[in-house]
Amino acid sequence: MTLTESVALVTGSNRGLGMAFAERLIARGIKKIYVTARDASLLENLVKLNPNSVCPITLDITQQRHIEDVLSQATDVTLLINNAGCNRNAALLGVAGIENAREEMETNYFGTLSMCRAFAPVLKNNGGGTIVNILSILSLVNLPASGSFSVSKAAAYSMNQGVRAELSGQNTSVVGVMPGSIDTDMARDFEGPKDKPVDVVDAVLQAIEDGIEDVYPGEMAQAVYQGHRQDAKAIEKEFAVFVS
Ligand SMILES: NC(=O)c1ccc[n+]([C@@H]2O[C@H](COP(=O)([O-])OP(=O)(O)OC[C@H]3O[C@@H](n4cnc5c(N)ncnc54)[C@H](OP(=O)(O)O)[C@@H]3O)[C@@H](O)[C@H]2O)c1
Repeated sequence: MTLTESVALVTGSNRGLGMAFAERLIARGIKKIYVTARDASLLENLVKLNPNSVCPITLDITQQRHIEDVLSQATDVTLLINNAGCNRNAALLGVAGIENAREEMETNYFGTLSMCRAFAPVLKNNGGGTIVNILSILSLVNLPASGSFSVSKAAAYSMNQGVRAELSGQNTSVVGVMPGSIDTDMARDFEGPKDKPVDVVDAVLQAIEDGIEDVYPGEMAQAVYQGHRQDAKAIEKEFAVFVS
């Protein structure tokens, strides 16, 4: 099936990378797309791009009742893009309380897992389809200044592999995306080079079309990935100096 014949669902479509995914898929003339956000009123501009094919739905991925409500409406999905995520830019030890770490795990790991669990049978019913999980290059190495975010993305990276294995028998492709820094609100305070959201989106859509399972879009992600393959300890030490 080509991308334009897909029925997509994008989590966190209201801004950042999720909005870029939605805009690009709409521009490419996708058959149908469910754009989702915690506040669905923020999706109006996407709907205006093509009211016939763009369906807005409220979805907080940490709320099981929201997921069940979306499931009841979006039974024709063939491409699930698990984009929603949060980063509290918090250290593991050097912050008061454990709430940041819990929120990141609830969103980036449990929320994403819940979406995979909910939509696996839907994809199966629709012939197999594709799940894209937006992870991070910090899935591979801990950045202490965002220590708990890194942990949540490492958990999601492992989940991505396990889900891929479990769904291999139902013709569902599972694509893991490990970006470096992207120019969105999440990386507002990062002063180094950032990839444009649209470039990350194009790399992911190309990977789907080419049947590539693991995507490291952009120069930073490529450099860390290659460095990690050659000498994981050296990459750990390189990142270890960034303690908040
Ligand atoms: N930006 C980077 O440098 C970077 C690098 C590597 C990976 N990533 C990953 O890329 C993905 C997109 O992030 P971004 O850069 O676009 O960040 P962003 O601009 O902060 O956008 C995050 C999106 O996720 C949504 N979201 C957060 N918690 C949610 C929840 N519980 N349920 C539903 N939606 C939720 C947000 O909705 P609200 O508007 O309601 O908060 C927003 O739409 C994330 O998974 C992130 O971890 C980003």
